[in-house]
Amino acid sequence: MFSKEDNERLCRVGPGTPMGDAFRRFWIPFLLAGELAQADGAPKRVRLLGEDLIAFRDTEGKLGLLDRYCPHRRVDLFFGRNEQCGLRCPYHGWKFDTDGKAVDMPAEPENSQMLHETRIKSYPVIEWGGVIWAYMGDPAQKPLSPPMMEWATVPDAHRFVTKRLQRTNYAQGVEGGIDSSHVGILHSRLDPAKRDLPFRQRQVSPLSTVPYLAMDTAPKFFVRPMRHGMTIGARRNASRDTFYWRITQFLLPFYTMIAPNVEGGAVMGHSWTPIDDHHCWVFTMTWNGARPLTDDERDNGAVHADTKDDGSYEPLVNAANDYGIDREKQRLYSTTGIDGIGMQDTAVQESMGSIVDRTRENLSSADAAVVRFRRILLELADESERTGAVAVAANPEWYKVRSASVLLPHGVDFQEGAAKYTQVE
Ligand code: FES
Ligand SMILES: [Fe+2]
Repeated sequence: MFSKEDNERLCRVGPGTPMGDAFRRFWIPFLLAGELAQADGAPKRVRLLGEDLIAFRDTEGKLGLLDRYCPHRRVDLFFGRNEQCGLRCPYHGWKFDTDGKAVDMPAEPENSQMLHETRIKSYPVIEWGGVIWAYMGDPAQKPLSPPMMEWATVPDAHRFVTKRLQRTNYAQGVEGGIDSSHVGILHSRLDPAKRDLPFRQRQVSPLSTVPYLAMDTAPKFFVRPMRHGMTIGARRNASRDTFYWRITQFLLPFYTMIAPNVEGGAVMGHSWTPIDDHHCWVFTMTWNGARPLTDDERDNGAVHADTKDDGSYEPLVNAANDYGIDREKQRLYSTTGIDGIGMQDTAVQESMGSIVDRTRENLSSADAAVVRFRRILLELADESERTGAVAVAANPEWYKVRSASVLLPHGVDFQEGAAKYTQVE
């Protein structure tokens, strides 16, 4: 049973919480590179791990991430002037560089000691793999690089990244990303010609290239803890002597990689970046290690959702319009009546409340990966508290794994049989 205390420990990410402290030992992706493209451009409001911050790119292209509020009398630096290598508070003109050092105080006497003594909270930021990452932990323990996930290390043309706002705790998103048994249900299409048949016989695979998903909607799961997090094999019957394996990766602390639809095809993954306890950024990545993406691969099945272009990244369909649910489509063609795989996921996850009450669940055999995920995260918080560090954050090369889908003969271990797909050189 998952206790109320465990749920708090899993979900609370603010400063001073066990999980929040553990997460602060990692580089964390929080903006698309395009959101801060312009030197001396508009600063960007950021909320990350429950902290209110302001991000900007200075005259020389350097990135900064500072406390949102001026240390003088607490003006919101969103209104600041981004000029000559610093962000200037509009009220009395205190100006800070990307390292958080005060560099000008025009309303103070010249040579004021205060100028040399004043700092604003600042965090290191880098641009890497099409996204912008922050490190909010102990400077002495800063990892050499963000995790070396394949999507972040391929050339730009091999990668497509979007983000959307989800009004849930990060853990709810991760749990959807590793929960292979929902794929053939939540995302399935129904055959209208078979309207009078039982549900199982009406399902059509959501992915036309993968007939096995609908042929066997009750896969058997194999969960293996790994140094990067966990590898999950979902085994479905394919033919008399083969199984169809979908291999999903969970990478600490909040990344998932879902299986490609065809062997060697584009891979998709997510970062469920915690904004605060009740919101996360869903970064969605599609990539191919070997070649540039085709237009079709950039968005297969609308996993990347359409969002408002006002900077909020709020999906166009959302809770306020019931995710555009169309009951006629639901009656005839799909489980949900909601368009797009990404928004089908968000709809069910948000419908649980922003932090689901895990004490009231009834978990089944198909939830083995979810159960393991929770244990791994709680162990991460334990490791962080006990040792003052977490090993996986300091080892970016442990992340050189990918998901895969593959047909294997009966009797072959899925990790051995799929090694040439799941290991990134
Ligand atoms: S409040 Fe920012 S300089 Fe005075
Ligand atoms: Fe899903």
